[in-house]
Amino acid sequence: MSNVYRSSVQPRVLILYFSLSGQTRGLVNLFAAGLRSRGVSVTIEQIRPQEKIGFPLGSILRTLIMMLRTFFRARVPILPPSRCCFTGYDLIVLAGPTWSYNPSGPVLSLLDRYGHDLFTDRRVLPLISCRGYYRWHNLVLNRSLRRFTDTVDESIIFCHPSPEPWSTIGVFLKAAGCRPERRAVLGTYYRHHGHSREQLLAIRDRGATIGQELVRRLVLTDAGHATGSSSPVGRPAHDR
Ligand SMILES: Cc1cc2nc3c(=O)[nH]c(=O)nc-3n(C[C@H](O)[C@H](O)[C@H](O)COP(=O)(O)O)c2cc1C
Repeated sequence: MSNVYRSSVQPRVLILYFSLSGQTRGLVNLFAAGLRSRGVSVTIEQIRPQEKIGFPLGSILRTLIMMLRTFFRARVPILPPSRCCFTGYDLIVLAGPTWSYNPSGPVLSLLDRYGHDLFTDRRVLPLISCRGYYRWHNLVLNRSLRRFTDTVDESIIFCHPSPEPWSTIGVFLKAAGCRPERRAVLGTYYRHHGHSREQLLAIRDRGATIGQELVRRLVLTDAGHATGSSSPVGRPAHDR
């Protein structure tokens, strides 16, 4: 009997993410670990381009071309998300990197093609991984999501901790296939590519905090249903 009760108050979270060089993936996995540590059921779904994009991109010219295309928000066609993504969740996390100040091409495609079916009337939490220039990305993402739902949480944003201008130079050279952190002079200013260990620990804690809040909300909603009182929180009963 206690098992039945426990499963009825287990919040469900879907994390949809795209990651080219693994930074968003690292954040997402630890965020999920934090959520799970509070008893949340987490489904992680990778947004997959129809044609695989390798990383590094291979040359300076290819990197420049990609940056130009992404500046104009070129879409990257994606494979359809799994069917389980279209069922009820208490929260959907949409995670991905900044590309030339914008959301990445695969995330833009997801919003265009599947945004209505995935996000309508859902609670959505954007998660951004970037080297530091995310404001336009965040604006575009929020505006797109608000076409489908009024419940868009404040974005979680993680910027690479390396200082500028080394971060910009480092990310560019990394994408081109050079190893900036191993270069004689550059390496002294750009020691590490991507997010730090502290950031990874911080996002795990953030996951735990949000997980706790989701559990609390769902327990309150269940209590409301049990006593017949109406409650403004939690997902609609038909989703459970
Ligand atoms: C083509 C390209 C364009 C990028 N443009 C930006 C940008 O405009 N602003 C920014 O802060 N970071 C930018 N970055 C850096 C990525 O957002 C950052 O490295 C992120 O952590 C990558 O996440 P991922 O490994 O999950 O793909 C760019 C990276 C690439 C490859």
